[in-house]
Amino acid sequence: MNERNKLLVLFAHPALHKSRVNRQLISAIEAVEDITFHNLYEEYPDFHIDVDREQDLLLSHDIYIWQHPFYWYSSPSIIKEWIDLVLKHGFAYGRTGTALKGKKIFSAITTGGRREVYQESNMNNFTIPQFLAPFRQTARLCNMIYMPPFVIHGTHLLTEEEIRKAAMEYRKILISLRDQIFSDEEIWNCTYMNDLLELTQK
Ligand SMILES: Cc1cc2nc3c(=O)[nH]c(=O)nc-3n(C[C@H](O)[C@H](O)[C@H](O)COP(=O)(O)O)c2cc1C
Repeated sequence: MNERNKLLVLFAHPALHKSRVNRQLISAIEAVEDITFHNLYEEYPDFHIDVDREQDLLLSHDIYIWQHPFYWYSSPSIIKEWIDLVLKHGFAYGRTGTALKGKKIFSAITTGGRREVYQESNMNNFTIPQFLAPFRQTARLCNMIYMPPFVIHGTHLLTEEEIRKAAMEYRKILISLRDQIFSDEEIWNCTYMNDLLELTQK
């Protein structure tokens, strides 16, 4: 059996009590072995992020997930605060900042907008991978490997049943990354991480 990866879900939702989708996503993965669920708004309601603790968490995991609803074409603000404070020079980047070298990271986002509106010829003018460029480049500067995003579109239109199905898909993908089911090539060939499930019934 392949060695297991340890996953760290860096979760941010400022109004979780109102959430329909992320709430189900997290309940699908919370109790899974080797997946650490880390709720940033719950841990740091005053935004006083414990940098040493966060860096220790990073060091003890292999794959990180920035999970959040898409807010103004980006993340809720605590993710930015987390990046500003935790990915320090000398730790995450710079000549001696190699602590995160080779770690993998991706975004898991939910969007109100349907997939069709995230096209160059449509209302939002840019695709999701284009909007996520600052996250991709942040990861690259820190010598991390930024993988394709997991995306759930059109959240307002989804039925409870569709949300439950999406949550099960999220769980499957996280478990497959933990257990190294898919090759790097299979992952890079995806536009969205979701596409992995269509590949095979591995
Ligand atoms: C402040 C705010 C900003 C938002 N910005 C976007 C956006 O830029 N693009 C988009 O597609 N949806 C946007 N939405 C919709 C959310 O992404 C959507 O409500 C969320 O993903 C649903 O997940 P939840 O049920 O877990 O809250 C925004 C919502 C809020 C409250």
